Amino acid sequence: MTDLISIKQAPEYVGKEVRMHVWLTDKRSSGKIMFLQLRDGTAFFQGVLLKKDVSEEKFDLAKSLRQEASFYITGVINEDERSHFGYEIKISDLELVSNTEDYPIGNKEHGIDFLLDHRHLWLRSRRPFAIMQIRNEMINATYDFFKKEGFIKFDAPILMNSAPEGTTELFHIEYFDNDAYLSQSGQLYAEVGAEAFGKVFTFGPTFRAEKSKTRRHLTEFWMIEPEMAWTHQDESLDVQERYISYLVKRVIENCEYELNILGRDVEKLRPAAEGNYTRLKYDDAVKMLQDAGRDFKWGDDFGAPDEAYISEQYDRPVFIMNYPTSIKPFYMKKDPENPKEYLCADLLAPEGYGEIVGGSEREENFDVLKAQIEEAGLNLDNYEWYLDLRRYGSVPHSGFGLGFERAITWICHLDHLREAIPFPRMINRMEP
Ligand code: 4AD
Ligand code: MG
Repeated sequence: MTDLISIKQAPEYVGKEVRMHVWLTDKRSSGKIMFLQLRDGTAFFQGVLLKKDVSEEKFDLAKSLRQEASFYITGVINEDERSHFGYEIKISDLELVSNTEDYPIGNKEHGIDFLLDHRHLWLRSRRPFAIMQIRNEMINATYDFFKKEGFIKFDAPILMNSAPEGTTELFHIEYFDNDAYLSQSGQLYAEVGAEAFGKVFTFGPTFRAEKSKTRRHLTEFWMIEPEMAWTHQDESLDVQERYISYLVKRVIENCEYELNILGRDVEKLRPAAEGNYTRLKYDDAVKMLQDAGRDFKWGDDFGAPDEAYISEQYDRPVFIMNYPTSIKPFYMKKDPENPKEYLCADLLAPEGYGEIVGGSEREENFDVLKAQIEEAGLNLDNYEWYLDLRRYGSVPHSGFGLGFERAITWICHLDHLREAIPFPRMINRMEP
């Protein structure tokens, strides 16, 4: 029996006859020889069909194949140094499953709107393939990392009656006779998890009614939110540094083929895998911007160009710590040495990418937290359960949220978040 293998397994089968199920991405022929460009979801490679090796009927069948036709092939795997992938198959038989007509995405340049309108098909192309494979490696690396560090995965709800990150960017929905919101962040529930299990992380979709059309904002994005009991902010920064280094290391180790498809300059990525991220205070970052002649006042929040400027000064991610309390959410703990600042940090990715992580130590004192909720203008009734965490066994605890598409966009060196998620949701895009 001939083994049915994937393209990715080809290196283990050099010189052997195998069977494969594939789709056609492109085709070239010169009378007696045909080159079929093939994909199967695991990689892309070439099939070579010689007229003399098959019946006339089979050769005609191959000639009739159109882009995205699906079929089985049988043949022998050979090394092929000229190709990207390094292997090819010499085809001896071919069975059609379905042929196609007029596949809309050709092997030429298309505009981004056209491609996004055809996202359901575009995902089959090389570039989205590479990005989604890297996304998958980062998902697996995330689970591996937090398991190794003693965290449990803890699922936060998506339907909520509270607003963890402020009320301006909430998606409101009718929930029978009540109001509800789509989750902006799983953090408050992760804090529940931390007091029940010590160390937890959530990983799920979050929603922000971002009216801004920027390359860094989606209305639906995925966030990883670790939360740790008995942990101060500086220890949380250590975890962040280990986690981000590990993510980068795993992608460099296991996604060479995909990084190559994207043309990613891996040398620019490598320092991030080594750790040793600078920890800069907000005050010093402000000074850095002012020294560079930029128009920036203490107390302002950084805009994308400010973050880009700061992050370009480093070859790896950089933490900005201790933001003024006026520009961060209510649950953070004030710095006892400087109550105008929170014990918090954002992590900015290099090469101008800006914020990929936001995190802080959480206020653990009941009275202080209650006052901060009221100051933020939030309805205390909705936070009774959250305050229970400070009534019963409250401990110092810290956590952070990694915007998953932000991290992918940086690691893959994309210029817009929309390519980092299978089906991007933005202010004017809900389809497909
Ligand atoms: O900084 P944010 O708002 O922090 C939180 O939500 C905290 N509750 C996290 C925590 O401490 N558990 O969001 C965290 C990250 C940002 O750093 C950014 O990477 C990403 O989420 N993010 C977005 N990604 C894509 N589209 C958007 N509209 C985003 N808004 C935030
Ligand atoms: Mg933030």
